[in-house]
Amino acid sequence: MKALVYGGPGKMSVEQKPKPQIKAPTDAIVMVTKTTICGTDLHILKGDLATCPPGRILGHEGVGIIDSIGDNVTTFHVGDRVLISCVSFCGKCYYCRRNMYSHCTTGGWILGNEIDGTQAEFVRIPYADTSLYPIEKGADEEALVMLSDILPTGFECGVLNGRVAPGSNVAIVGSGPVGLAALLTAQFYSPAQLIMIDLDDNRLDVAKKFGATATVNSTDGKAAEAVMKMTGGRGVDTAIEAVGIASTFELCETLIAPGGTIANIGVHGKKVELHLERLWDRNITITTRLVDTASTPMLLEVLRSHRIDPKQLITHRFSFEHILEAYDTFGHAAETKALKVIIEA
Ligand SMILES: NC(=O)c1ccc[n+]([C@@H]2O[C@H](COP(=O)([O-])OP(=O)(O)OC[C@H]3O[C@@H](n4cnc5c(N)ncnc54)[C@H](O)[C@@H]3O)[C@@H](O)[C@H]2O)c1
Ligand SMILES: [Zn+2]
Ligand SMILES: [Zn+2]
Repeated sequence: MKALVYGGPGKMSVEQKPKPQIKAPTDAIVMVTKTTICGTDLHILKGDLATCPPGRILGHEGVGIIDSIGDNVTTFHVGDRVLISCVSFCGKCYYCRRNMYSHCTTGGWILGNEIDGTQAEFVRIPYADTSLYPIEKGADEEALVMLSDILPTGFECGVLNGRVAPGSNVAIVGSGPVGLAALLTAQFYSPAQLIMIDLDDNRLDVAKKFGATATVNSTDGKAAEAVMKMTGGRGVDTAIEAVGIASTFELCETLIAPGGTIANIGVHGKKVELHLERLWDRNITITTRLVDTASTPMLLEVLRSHRIDPKQLITHRFSFEHILEAYDTFGHAAETKALKVIIEA
């Protein structure tokens, strides 16, 4: 089968790979019909993730059709259409019992990281019963791809951890797909202000359409001043970091109001300064999280009732043969105006 293979920092290629086989009785093999590219895939390509070795098939998002199942898979059958979660989990271990599926002792976020991922014709999904979701007849499969990772990520790591509350002031640094997913799901709680910060005017325009009450282009280095003006000099109650570099986390440290929460979403490959000399007396909370996908069943209900439209995030579509072009387009979002790109079998 054809697959997109990571070749070490800055390198990737489309290669012929053997079709995956069932390894454990709880596995399923899924024929991937639609997948996409995540900001995390770009971090892997930068060499930020030591867990992902060269030779790995990338990708942790997608939908597909069950091709085969192990003997112990009871929920799914060959031919079923399924949503693939970016987190594979056993449901039984210490962390799974605490709903911290991302830290499943034999799973977690392993797809396209510690095991081969979804940017291929077929993928092996461990713990199929708990790591896949059935797709209803007539459901919009493109919209569902947004539920593999970015919607639960924006919601769990940003909105829930950030304690977004009615009437609160929220700033989201990073208006990429994940920041925009946080923007969409923050609106479940009716915050007073939703301020989006990015370097890219196009992404900020999109944020306005998605419900941002204000946008700030931080290119001039004056984002903190702008946000202070909008919040009566207090700063925000929730600052969500959705980029994954030191300067944007440090910006969150300058934006946060006393009593506020900094919710980090970004994957960081480098050291970040923690300014306790400024923050120690401000009663703030800092949270980090790897998405658990514990909110996926809830988000599926929200999607079913058309309360949010994650399909708005899709800007480009490619066939699998053009996946390198898809990476190029996603990696140069400022020029191409790409948000999520769909790659179809
Ligand atoms: N914690 C988790 O479980 C989890 C899950 C998925 C993704 N992530 C991470 O979330 C982050 C965002 O993902 P994405 O897919 O939206 O990525 P992305 O690369 O598409 O978006 C990042 C955005 O940040 C903006 N940006 C870059 N530098 C900036 C700066 N100095 N100031 C302001 N904005 C800046 C870019 O213009 C872009 O719009 C990544 O770090 C990704 O790895 C984390
Ligand atoms: Zn991801
Ligand atoms: Zn587990």
